[in-house]
Amino acid sequence: MAANPDAVKVFAPAKINLFLHVGNKRDDGYHALESLVVFADVGDELLIEPAKAFSLALDGPFGGKLVEEQDNLIAKAARALGAKAGRSPDVKITLTKNLPVASGIGGGSADAAATLRGLAQFWGLKIPHAEMNAIAETLGSDVPACLLSETLWMTGRGEGIEPVTGIPPAPMVLVNPGVAVSTAQIFTNLKNRVGLGQAAKPKADLSVLALADYFKSNRNDLENPAREIAPAIDEVLRAISHRGALRTRMSGSGATCFGLFVDDRSAEAAAAKISEDHPRWWVKKARIQ
Ligand code: C5P
Repeated sequence: MAANPDAVKVFAPAKINLFLHVGNKRDDGYHALESLVVFADVGDELLIEPAKAFSLALDGPFGGKLVEEQDNLIAKAARALGAKAGRSPDVKITLTKNLPVASGIGGGSADAAATLRGLAQFWGLKIPHAEMNAIAETLGSDVPACLLSETLWMTGRGEGIEPVTGIPPAPMVLVNPGVAVSTAQIFTNLKNRVGLGQAAKPKADLSVLALADYFKSNRNDLENPAREIAPAIDEVLRAISHRGALRTRMSGSGATCFGLFVDDRSAEAAAAKISEDHPRWWVKKARIQ
């Protein structure tokens, strides 16, 4: 086993569903999905340091939102990996929460996955990926995808993962109106859907314009039920579109939406304008990693 480093820093990138099609509800209560998932160059940051007992410190713009919820996914991930490694999770984890909470871009799942990656490095563990994946699955449907944190094709309830190539490092603007939505509630409200087997993987390396075109053949099935619960999503989609996006869509179960932009400059300009028009919204220029 490698010696413990003094501290480990881990990046927990935002997860974005370029499209999300929902199939039938399965016997275990989860819905079967098909989704093209990418990761952004914006996200939360974790710092893992030695300690006598487990503790979680929160900072960053959204750290305050998690204060009431100490037993969050980071603590669960640390305990689960500790159990696997036969040790107590005696570390201090500082989470810099840059991403809005319960917002459809993975936040909690990305943090849990980053905890698994970071602690494995901190403890010098050599756990096969399949076993890490099995732990990730117990923490949430998006955690296996976030463990990989690379462009991927998602199936099953989220555990079916296949890396995908051909998606360009496209400029984006992410916008959240500050309305937290419950994933479970959005799935309950779902009526019409595209369903499975309708979407195709990209066949070649796509330009940003070709990616915009690709969006014509798919959608986010959770967008309509989310718009019913959080009408602010309509306003967000309109605002991004109004500022020149090639395409706009909601990610995951919302309420964060993204716009795809032709280049970084137009994405930056759009982000600045949307922030100016809506000072209470979370607005971030990003790029697919
Ligand atoms: O797995 P996770 O905790 O993210 O799921 C939250 C809720 O979202 C589940 O309890 C379920 O109601 C719903 N869900 C679903 N099908 C999925 C993923 C989530 O119905 N594939």
